[in-house]
Amino acid sequence: MEGSSSKYLITFLLILVAISSCINSGMAGKANRLSTEFIRTSCKSTIYPSLCFSSLSAHANSIQTSPQLLASTALNVTLSSAQSTSSLMVRLSKTRGMSPRVAVAMTDCVEELSDSVDELRQSIAEMGNLKGSNFKLMINDIQTWVSAALTDESTCTDGFQGNSMNGKVKTTVRGKIVKVAQLTSNALALINRYAAFHD
Ligand SMILES: *[C@@H]1O[C@H](CO)[C@@H](O)[C@H](O)[C@H]1NC(C)=O
Repeated sequence: MEGSSSKYLITFLLILVAISSCINSGMAGKANRLSTEFIRTSCKSTIYPSLCFSSLSAHANSIQTSPQLLASTALNVTLSSAQSTSSLMVRLSKTRGMSPRVAVAMTDCVEELSDSVDELRQSIAEMGNLKGSNFKLMINDIQTWVSAALTDESTCTDGFQGNSMNGKVKTTVRGKIVKVAQLTSNALALINRYAAFHD
């Protein structure tokens, strides 16, 4: 008798656990859908909305519906892409047998990408320090640094224009830097949006 009533109790508890985990995952799913919609809507204010959405939607759980977390995540994603492109450029710039013109463009680009990585890092650090009283001043600094990073990246891609460029360098390198510049432009748009919300 006792054995069968404890069996009932266990069954009852298992059902309870199952029900509550259903409710929990339902709520998590709803929060995730809400965040995904928030990201999609916010990305519409950027110049490259589909890149914006594809680069940020994987972080929906941590972004939730916060314009600040959206902007900082966009900055972090941009930094990691800029860093890997920057190291690729450093490796490629040591390649032998490049034409002088390509070699110069590569050397300049390594410098410009390294500057843009520094500017993005500085912005991320400041993003973590944003305080009520100094908000305007700090967000202004961030906007200035991210704009400077975008200028550096654009100067780099400009160096790879023209017909004398080797086909492989042009497609692999230029394509990657263009993507970093597009991510940076999107991050800047999301920072501007966040700053406007805060007014
Ligand atoms: C972005 O990166 C910084 C530095 O690694 C980190 O402290 C911060 O939490 C990250 N922000 C988000 C939203 O992931």
